[in-house]
Amino acid sequence: MLKGRCLIDPADFTREEFRELFDLAHQIVANPEKYSKSCEGKILATLFYEPSTRTRFSFEAAMLRLGGKVIGFSEPNSSSVAKGESVADTIRTIECYADIAVMRHPKEGAPRVASQYLTTMPLINAGDGGHQHPTQTLTDILTIERLKGSVENKTYGFCGDLKFGRTVHSLIKFLSNYEGVKFILISPEELRVPEYIREEVIRKKGIPFEEVQQIEPYMNQLDFLYMTRVQRERFFNEEDYIRLKDRFILDMEKMKYAREDTYILHPLPRVNEISIEVDKDPRAQYFAQAKNGMYVRMALILKLLGIY
Ligand code: CP
Repeated sequence: MLKGRCLIDPADFTREEFRELFDLAHQIVANPEKYSKSCEGKILATLFYEPSTRTRFSFEAAMLRLGGKVIGFSEPNSSSVAKGESVADTIRTIECYADIAVMRHPKEGAPRVASQYLTTMPLINAGDGGHQHPTQTLTDILTIERLKGSVENKTYGFCGDLKFGRTVHSLIKFLSNYEGVKFILISPEELRVPEYIREEVIRKKGIPFEEVQQIEPYMNQLDFLYMTRVQRERFFNEEDYIRLKDRFILDMEKMKYAREDTYILHPLPRVNEISIEVDKDPRAQYFAQAKNGMYVRMALILKLLGIY
């Protein structure tokens, strides 16, 4: 029963609860019209303290497609945040006006802190610093299931910035609960997954994994290659960013090493890490993934509001 709950970290829901959510998301994909009035009279608040295209627009589109309404800010300085209002006071105020809220924040843990000030309104973490991005994980899992039926017994390659990439941290955390998964972690030494993910998640769950620094030799092992952007905004100095940003670029030359059933995912936005030429390859699924994000967020809103 997800009614009234917050989603801050993938560990907040059980495997069974996620299953119910994905089953609903698949039903919405098959027949979105059926749900077009489900949220009439409900309001979603979007609190984006950091820039976003997909997460904010897909949440807003999700609520509008469910028949609900949306309020919020995408520029915190247009709100009383500019006057120094705390996250705690902001979220308590939003609870007076909205039925459900979504927050993206540059500080790790900010949505968790905010959730502790709520009485009944569900809050969804839309990304907190370099920590977690659970609804991107929902997007990724729905995409994986639509392409290959289930997440189990698959080899997942993660490539790029695995240190600051919150989408990678959330997805690894989620997948580590499933049987037969294996990870190939492809990154420069400086951008390896954080120790807490390697030790407390991957090793603790006994998941086989390799940490490597090349894509080509591993391509033919992969069911999915999850590319990520080297995130300029998370670096302390520009020199390191420039040195590392183009280390892994997926182009058609590298795609020759991939199997016919190896799918390429990316949470987007991309900068240089996937050449535009790859977009035409049917194995490139990152724009379909962005669309799935809207459907799975429709399912999440319906579940947290207790409508389905
Ligand atoms: N994938 C993702 O979080 O994209 P945005 O930053 O555009 O929301």
